[in-house]
Amino acid sequence: MRVVVISGSMFGTTDLVADRAVTVLQGAGLQVERLGEMSLDLLLEQQADAWLVCTSTTGMGELPDNLLPLHLQLQERFPLLDGKPFGVIALGDSAYPDTFCAGGLLMREQLLELQGRELLPMLQLDASETVTQEDDAEPWLGEFVEALAARQL
Ligand SMILES: Cc1cc2nc3c(=O)[nH]c(=O)nc-3n(C[C@H](O)[C@H](O)[C@H](O)COP(=O)(O)O)c2cc1C
Repeated sequence: MRVVVISGSMFGTTDLVADRAVTVLQGAGLQVERLGEMSLDLLLEQQADAWLVCTSTTGMGELPDNLLPLHLQLQERFPLLDGKPFGVIALGDSAYPDTFCAGGLLMREQLLELQGRELLPMLQLDASETVTQEDDAEPWLGEFVEALAARQL
């Protein structure tokens, strides 16, 4: 099983979470690709069995600059995902109550609209509660691995 990991980050915290995701998934014996440039062509080229999207939120509920083009391309080109499994890890800060984790929600909604299948409820990591988001993501990542494994049976 091949998983592609995507990271939308402004200041690098989400990249740390995505790095940890790669470590955990590889440790479970999965083939993992970390997408460098966020473009739909590159993403589709990977022919991954599952997508893991990690993203923070910036501005007033916006996606990080490096993830905006991919989100736009998903909206405009509308590649149907035909039940492809995906998961979303959203980093945010509850100091922004009206737009808490809105970037993750935007990606999640887009993937659902494209008929992806969400494997686990979106993980929300709150910068007001933790500064070790990558450690806090580990239990969810373990469940993500289990959910992927269950699909292979
Ligand atoms: C300018 C700015 C705007 C932000 N806006 C939001 C927001 O609207 N909603 C939210 O949940 N978090 C918001 N955050 C919090 C970040 O998403 C959070 O700190 C995250 O961990 C940053 O991850 P990153 O370093 O990968 O970008 C904002 C942070 C900054 C600096």
